[in-house]
Amino acid sequence: MRTTRSRPKPHSLSLLLPLLALAIPAYAQVDPGPRGGVANAGGPLAGLSAVEVSAFNDAKAVFAEIDSVSGGIAGEDGSGLGPTFNANSCASCHAQPAVGGTSPHPTLGQVRRSNPQIAFATLDRLAGRNQTVPSFILASEEQLTSRFASTATQRANFGIGGHFNRNGNDGSITRFGWKAQNKSLLIFAGEAYNVEQGVTNELFQNERGGDENCEANPTPEDHSHFLNGTSTTGTLAQLSSDAVNFANFMRLLAPPATTINTASELNGQSLFNSVGCNLCHTTTMVSEESVLTGQTNVTYHPFSDFAVHHMGTGLADGVSQGNAGGDEFRSAPLWGAGQRIFFLHDGRAGPGNGGLMKAIQEHSSTGSEANTVISRFNNLLTPSQKQDILNFLRAL
Ligand code: HEC
Ligand code: HEC
Repeated sequence: MRTTRSRPKPHSLSLLLPLLALAIPAYAQVDPGPRGGVANAGGPLAGLSAVEVSAFNDAKAVFAEIDSVSGGIAGEDGSGLGPTFNANSCASCHAQPAVGGTSPHPTLGQVRRSNPQIAFATLDRLAGRNQTVPSFILASEEQLTSRFASTATQRANFGIGGHFNRNGNDGSITRFGWKAQNKSLLIFAGEAYNVEQGVTNELFQNERGGDENCEANPTPEDHSHFLNGTSTTGTLAQLSSDAVNFANFMRLLAPPATTINTASELNGQSLFNSVGCNLCHTTTMVSEESVLTGQTNVTYHPFSDFAVHHMGTGLADGVSQGNAGGDEFRSAPLWGAGQRIFFLHDGRAGPGNGGLMKAIQEHSSTGSEANTVISRFNNLLTPSQKQDILNFLRAL
């Protein structure tokens, strides 16, 4: 239960002015835009063995492979595409700033909710729709070390609740997707392969779209390989299904490296914490014991608590997944935000409308757990301090 506090009454002009300023979408602070220079992302985790690095490279090639219906078209070696698909490769949507990243294109991702085939076929002609894909890379499939306990009091004071989404089968915490709806990278890979590319697989066996005449290939189209050609031996990538390769690539993918360096970025880093952004965007976690070489007890910085929060009427999409309701979203992991083009689950903030500044303001609407923190950001920080936070975010 939140305690009711009396709201300040707008009895003076000085109180009204900041409200009026908010109604105007132009912001005094400038989002520096996606950081240029080297990608600083897309490589394997530090500390992996040579064998694991080689598995990463093989799996990455499968992730970037382009599918056609039966394979064999030059440059489109993968098979099983369609009959309903949004794109022909994982890397068509997950490419910014490197393979495995977020959406390079304002329409990709959004097309999954409209007419997919037409939308993809006419991809380059659609205009004006923004869409982003949140960063999906976790150091590996470690357990979370959540910082709920130490920050509980402060969260409660700021009206922040939040809870984990959970798997229906075993009740364990789920972390992947906008609403943290999926249990594992393998499940996400199987689902995405079916939903986004129309490739049936061992995790999601049925062709969507349901027209038997359209089912060109035996199912599942993507599967484990008992034989590598005529041989019973081969690399992990050769014997595994594509879905397993996708998951291996994502598990072994390193988080983007930060470039926090200038006085402004360092100041922004401490303001991010003091204003309360870190109460949802948890800065630091430590991995548990991992089967991967060098990945046990690794400190990493996802800038997410992996919990879902009520984000108010302004961001609500009315979609329920697991125990996440229509206005609940996973605190978007901010690692890699420095090189992201579009922000928020529908990509509504991006180039031309304030970018990061708009993303921050959109946190605030009726029923949002972020309202107190955003009003602290707006009212306690000087214009240059706000700019410091934007600069810090662009160094992630
Ligand atoms: C048409 C665009 C598109 C394609 C193609 C696509 N994705 Fe995605 N991906 C998205 C969108 C949009 C989201 C966020 C949606 C959600 O949370 O449900 C997402 C989210 C994810 C996530 C979760 C990210 C996170 O932060 O938890 C994973 C993992 C993922 N995709 C893997 C894949 C794999 C593997 C493939 C190839 C089989 C693929 N995707 C193909 C658009 C795409
Ligand atoms: C109550 C929890 C909460 C607080 C407090 C909070 N955020 Fe968020 N933040 C979220 C959630 C949830 C999302 C995803 C919303 C969506 O996709 O619609 C998000 C998304 C973002 C994004 C967009 C990331 C992307 O890739 O789309 C940015 C940038 C961001 N937050 C920055 C901040 C900053 C800066 C602050 C402090 C001023 C802050 N947040 C405070 C929960 C919070």
